[in-house]
Amino acid sequence: MNRMPLIVANWKMNHGVEESIIFASKFLQGTFPENVEIVICPPFTSLYTLSVTFSDTDKIKLGAQNCHHETSGAFTGEISPAFLEEISCQYVLIGHSERRHVFNESDEFLLKKINTLLETSLKIIFCIGETLEQREAGKTFDVIDQQLHHCLGKIDKNQLSHFVIAYEPVWAIGTGKTATPEQAQEVHHKIRTWIHNKFGTLPADAIRILYGGSVKPNNTKELMLQEDIDGLLVGGASLDPVNFNHIIRNAVK
Ligand code: PGA
Repeated sequence: MNRMPLIVANWKMNHGVEESIIFASKFLQGTFPENVEIVICPPFTSLYTLSVTFSDTDKIKLGAQNCHHETSGAFTGEISPAFLEEISCQYVLIGHSERRHVFNESDEFLLKKINTLLETSLKIIFCIGETLEQREAGKTFDVIDQQLHHCLGKIDKNQLSHFVIAYEPVWAIGTGKTATPEQAQEVHHKIRTWIHNKFGTLPADAIRILYGGSVKPNNTKELMLQEDIDGLLVGGASLDPVNFNHIIRNAVK
């Protein structure tokens, strides 16, 4: 199955509006391979500005880093999925390890967001991954299995097309310690097998599974050579337009 590579920038809490505009004008000067899908997830305050800046190109899509599970109401400080749709945002990260570990978002809470998002046009980038302690205790596959079970285990087969999965070992995020291509492939293969067992061959072949955790221009090619790695979720290295452009150009399968 030919899965279109997907490269996602997760800026986290970096780049205010002014820096986002500077990024965009430099980034738009680059050349982009045709058969790679590109998504940028800036902070909420930059989303609208960037949706205007990128409105002339369908090459660069926008994603949010989070959203709430209700569409409106008394939820001070939260962002509705409807607001994201209104500004042509197409993706949302759900279950990023910083949301799970720093903000204590539970599987139950993530499932609420997923259920709401399934009623919208937004695509879900569902993030999973083990901590160093869990890996060293030999629990990687159990953790992945549970994270999949609690959320994807609760949806219907025909809803799977709303999802991209991102495998991000927590020990590799922002540490400079990338998983080896073999380590990543091993887990990606397990994830695809889980999808296969639950939903069948076609959905397992179609779903894109991204790797994230200290991705840089110089490790992109070897990661993307792995059979079950269909794209990348890039934090630190996506903040610089030239670096991010290199990653995109190295990601062609
Ligand atoms: P990193 O972050 O590339 O800076 O390790 C990845 C992520 O958290 O999505």
